Amino acid sequence: MKTNNNKVSVIGLGSMGTTLARLLLQKGYEVTVWNRSSGKADDLVKEGAIMAKDITEAIAASPVIVICVYNHQASQSILDSPEVSALLHQKLLVQLSTISPKEAVEAELWASEHGASYINGGIQAAPTQMGQPDTPILISGKEATYRIAEPILKVFGGAISYLGEKIAASPTVDLATLSYIYGASIGFFHGARIIESQGLSVAEYARIIAGISPSFGEFLKHEGNMVHTENYAITESPLRISVAATARLEQTAIEAGINARFPSFAAALFKKADLAGYGDQEVAALIKVLREQ
Ligand SMILES: NC(=O)c1ccc[n+]([C@@H]2O[C@H](COP(=O)([O-])OP(=O)(O)OC[C@H]3O[C@@H](n4cnc5c(N)ncnc54)[C@H](OP(=O)(O)O)[C@@H]3O)[C@@H](O)[C@H]2O)c1
Repeated sequence: MKTNNNKVSVIGLGSMGTTLARLLLQKGYEVTVWNRSSGKADDLVKEGAIMAKDITEAIAASPVIVICVYNHQASQSILDSPEVSALLHQKLLVQLSTISPKEAVEAELWASEHGASYINGGIQAAPTQMGQPDTPILISGKEATYRIAEPILKVFGGAISYLGEKIAASPTVDLATLSYIYGASIGFFHGARIIESQGLSVAEYARIIAGISPSFGEFLKHEGNMVHTENYAITESPLRISVAATARLEQTAIEAGINARFPSFAAALFKKADLAGYGDQEVAALIKVLREQ
């Protein structure tokens, strides 16, 4: 792979791909861009990007190809043609589209069959949050490949978590963090319904949540370490407190006449943990219920 120049091609100019191309331009890279539909490169060209006339020109232009499109199928529909794949020998493919763990395994294999190195990334930020020292990006793939891609990845975000050579690691952690944020979001919006039912301010509630979120993060870090070490002796929060708290959430929702599905779901899980005898363990023992089918 040629790495002695600063040429990068960016494939996909949606809101994220455009941001990635712009950040590279701002750092002095020679950036060639391509997008399925026309018009999206116009601003970038004014800022110094080179617009490839077709995908083969975009691939041929640089040793490093950053791909950021809708999903794996979109990525393969762009790359998996005889004309394009013939140009991939000795290229470095940096996959920043969100894909699944299985797709990452397939993509790495497909790339190596075409003589390309491959690294997979999960972007954990919105376009306007990119390029900051604390912008989080999950990366997995061969360490030697990661080291070559690292200067470019650092342009996109300073808080890179390199998760090792197992290519499925970054999409797996990406899915796990999505699980966290969707679970928290459903809880947040149910909380907003509680607030509304009492005629209080949802904006004020949201401000309070933002303030306490870092300490919740520290708490979850502690609970995660307890799961990791299989140590459920009470240290911070006995599970029985959560049995009572989620039952109270459910009861309050029923009394207030608001949708009770989320607290009913949470209360049932904690009740099951209590019945299994985990009440006098740390709340992290809930994982033992989730390990059952
Ligand atoms: N935006 C975010 O906040 C964010 C955050 C983290 C990760 N990501 C990930 O970044 C990736 C891109 O997101 P985005 O926000 O840039 O999305 P977007 O604005 O919707 O852009 C989608 C891009 O994919 C292309 N595309 C879609 N289907 C295609 C196909 N069948 N063949 C070829 N190209 C196709 C689109 O081309 P056209 O212009 O021709 O439609 C466009 O370039 C996604 O995987 C997303 O999960 C985004």
